[in-house]
Amino acid sequence: MPDRKIGIVGTGYVGLVTAAAFASRGLQIVCHDIDPARIASLRAGVLPFFEPALAETLAAARGTVDYTTDHERLYRRTGVVFVCVDTPPSGDGSADLSRVGTVIEAIPRWASPLVVMKSTVPVGTGRRIEALLANLDRADIAYISNPEFLREGSAIADVTHPDRIVIGGTDPTAIERVAALYETELAPIVRTDVTSAEMIKYASNAFLATKISFINEIANLCDAVGAGIDTVAAGMGLDHRIGPNFLHAGIGYGGSCFAKDISALQHTAASHGTALHVVTATQQANAHQAGRVIEKLAAHLGTLDGARIALLGLSFKADTTDARNSVGVHLADLLAQAGARLVCYDPLVRPEDIAGMPSCTSAATLADAIFGTDGAVIATEWPQYHDLLAPALSASMRTPLIIDGRNLLDPTAAAAAGYTYEGIGRSGTPAGNRIVESTGWLRAAA
Ligand code: UDX
Repeated sequence: MPDRKIGIVGTGYVGLVTAAAFASRGLQIVCHDIDPARIASLRAGVLPFFEPALAETLAAARGTVDYTTDHERLYRRTGVVFVCVDTPPSGDGSADLSRVGTVIEAIPRWASPLVVMKSTVPVGTGRRIEALLANLDRADIAYISNPEFLREGSAIADVTHPDRIVIGGTDPTAIERVAALYETELAPIVRTDVTSAEMIKYASNAFLATKISFINEIANLCDAVGAGIDTVAAGMGLDHRIGPNFLHAGIGYGGSCFAKDISALQHTAASHGTALHVVTATQQANAHQAGRVIEKLAAHLGTLDGARIALLGLSFKADTTDARNSVGVHLADLLAQAGARLVCYDPLVRPEDIAGMPSCTSAATLADAIFGTDGAVIATEWPQYHDLLAPALSASMRTPLIIDGRNLLDPTAAAAAGYTYEGIGRSGTPAGNRIVESTGWLRAAA
């Protein structure tokens, strides 16, 4: 009989989205968290963070999802437990596994759950957990690595339509129990050992980050030589070995995953005496990329000292309230250090809610943010910023200058709306920035 009752430990992004996805397929879910306030608000239908479609999916599954702080209840009612606690970075770049360890040690003696690790844990952790279980004389507990690849902002779509499902373990029966929980017709299942499953997650994130840093450096070169990065990326992406995704140039990657996971991968490599030169270069390129905005502003304004700059975007990407490791927040620091007077606007995040944010004026609307400024910087690709193209807005700026750090706006439309416009890698002619969709002449020539 396939398992029908699923335990979820940790009610962060991964835990709640996993719960919602399994619940919407008719499985019974018990979500556990150590934070009583969080559990109380989840019971009242209030989510601890914003994620599109998550509240609706959980509300539709009301009655099949139980929230508790009680360990015993979790293990009494479920046989498969997904570990979804966070693994924040430690001071030395390695991942802090204390929460994961606490979860394993808290499994009651009388319970023999199948433990499925969804938290991103460093390569080698599964083996250590299996050794810990053996030490605790818990050979009855099977362990599976089942990494999660969801993105914030599109998490529900990502878990309901995954590219692949990775299941690593030593016990074939345990692997098949986990496989049976998924709609296997939707995506290929990679059945492998625990360590390879862990590596797939880290290598994927490091590769994606490398793709971004690579295209960003090509964009910088496009600026220097007068080429258009949109066309260049599209032309590269048509090669099926390269592919069109994750080639969107800008001011660099942010968020809670890429930087943390890459540091943890570096730490694993160093502890095994292995160098990851490409990954090191990816980190270095990303650390420099936000500085492009400062260079571009300075090129137009002469100095930033005393300049009034609108910073548009504080969340690390659109459709999330998450500002952890956000490039927008990093830019606020860089702009403040350069002496700029900042006005910040983000549709969902207020600067006063971000710890360590430099002093700035918090604007209530996009129009308020750019009014009387010497330049506006787009740091997050919120679609709302297309409203900048209303001509009245450009006229309200002291200097109608936009530095588009996410290549969000159409350069020709921005110029038509009265702005001096610069994206990242778009300094070529406006025509050179347009993606030429027609491949008809290629077909005719063939
Ligand atoms: C990432 C991985 O994509 C996901 O598989 C993993 O589970 C967690 O980490 P996430 O951090 O939520 O997901 O967001 P993602 O959409 O991957 O974007 C990360 C950052 O890269 C953002 O700052 C985004 O703006 C930037 N990015 C992304 C680019 O600059 N260019 C791109 O082409 C794509």
